[in-house]
Amino acid sequence: MPEHAYSEGDWATIFKVERVRKKARGAEIELPEPEKNLRKGLKVGDSVGDYGVYMGDRGVYSTRNILNDLTGKEWVLFTKSWFIHNPPARKETEKLHPAKFPEGIIADFIRFFTKKGQLVLDPMVGTGSTLVACDMAMRRGVGVELIHKWVTIARERTTHVRLKDKPEQLVIEGDANNLLPLLTAHGISQVDFCITSPPYWNMLKKSRGHVNSESHKREASGLEVYYSDHPNDLGNIEDYDEYIEALYRVYAKVYEALREGGYLTIIVQNIRTPDGEMIPFAWDLARKLSTLYVLKQEKIWAQDNKMLGCWGYPSEYVSNVHHHYCLVFKKDTARRKRI
Ligand SMILES: C[S@@+](CC[C@H](N)C(=O)[O-])C[C@H]1O[C@@H](n2cnc3c(N)ncnc32)[C@H](O)[C@@H]1O
Repeated sequence: MPEHAYSEGDWATIFKVERVRKKARGAEIELPEPEKNLRKGLKVGDSVGDYGVYMGDRGVYSTRNILNDLTGKEWVLFTKSWFIHNPPARKETEKLHPAKFPEGIIADFIRFFTKKGQLVLDPMVGTGSTLVACDMAMRRGVGVELIHKWVTIARERTTHVRLKDKPEQLVIEGDANNLLPLLTAHGISQVDFCITSPPYWNMLKKSRGHVNSESHKREASGLEVYYSDHPNDLGNIEDYDEYIEALYRVYAKVYEALREGGYLTIIVQNIRTPDGEMIPFAWDLARKLSTLYVLKQEKIWAQDNKMLGCWGYPSEYVSNVHHHYCLVFKKDTARRKRI
């Protein structure tokens, strides 16, 4: 079995859902050339053309693939600009943190943007979901987190009894503004991919909605509704423009740590203020970072199991925001210099 093979059990959400959806609808996928008209009787591991390795139902892996371990079919499935994912219920320790992202979809991004064994960074790792996703995808991960209690949870979640061959995950307590010295102190000079989600400005500190809102429910259960009161917590910056500049500075450090040709994915939302105004945070950030990185995609993650809140009725249009943007950037210094 080739090195890049992994079992069906490793499949996570985007690939699985897209494959089933396409099959059910009979929708077309344009397959890369070696995967069209495969000869009969192929066995997993057989050669297909000059560069292909037959991977059964998964399709054909090209030995010229420099980005990931996926077949052409899997590659194409991932490129759709939106997907639906309803995160599973959180475990007790995970509930303590006000806003974690689901590991399943993070593992899919990691599988697309890295090869097995490569190094993934999350400069604001919270409860360590990125590192759990690295475990799922058999990649090494390094996360930085400012707040001690989230560091403790991240370490607990990633230092459980190690399965044989599972990669090591590293949680560093510190400020993402000091990213480069923190990485260097742990012998890391370069990472292959970064996936992360920042505090959405100071929105967790602004109560939104009625007594049934998530924030009120968390408060009533004695759970934290915001990350911290730490002065360096990016979620505590009052001025919006200053907040965008502060994020830019952190992602500029990520740029320095990222290998040339590597990708950065940031999961964000446009922000709705308590009085119902929309602040185009995702777009402002995409524009700002496009001066440094090349913006490649704004993959939309939609959730369709969330309660629809009754916000402005009967006088004002206020939207229920049930989608995120997974902004994908590339470090492509030569191209950026040309533009
Ligand atoms: C949206 S949360 C990340 C959640 C994470 N993706 C998870 O699944 O648990 C943003 C995190 O950034 C952290 N943070 C804020 N400012 C930071 C800074 N200057 N350096 C490092 N982490 C910071 C917060 O404490 C919070 O845990």
